[in-house]
Amino acid sequence: MSIVKINAIAVGEGKGEELEKRFAQRAGEVEDQPGFEGFELLRPVEGEDRYFVYTRWDSEESFQAWVNSPAFERGHRHAASNKSDGTVAHGSAILGFEVAIKTEGNKA
Ligand code: HEM
Repeated sequence: MSIVKINAIAVGEGKGEELEKRFAQRAGEVEDQPGFEGFELLRPVEGEDRYFVYTRWDSEESFQAWVNSPAFERGHRHAASNKSDGTVAHGSAILGFEVAIKTEGNKA
């Protein structure tokens, strides 16, 4: 079964739109990464005020290979949280899961 890695990004007040813009202009390289199954940028609505970048992979090894790749580096060129050039993230935490049970809606 797949694994899920979520990057939970804390953004400054009113900076969500800017974060979404960054993702709209993202490198788009992760799609070519072996073992990558998909990602979603989740905007917080209730119970949470961080954005979640939900990513799904075929294995921990595939995820680690991407994190240590030049593609990850290129995909995060403007993302470093310690830069003063208008970056939007001021914190980040990785959450990890194994998919235990999976189903899809019948009418999707
Ligand atoms: C310090 C940690 C991180 C921060 C602050 C961060 C923030 C960002 C930002 C702002 C972007 C938009 C592109 C840009 O502005 O450069 C981005 C791209 C992305 N991030 Fe992160 N990120 C971090 C680590 C991670 C991790 C660990 C994951 C996976 C769980 C992840 C998943 C992604 C994906 C899938 C993209 C799109 C890359 C592409 O299009 O090739 N990020 N990130």
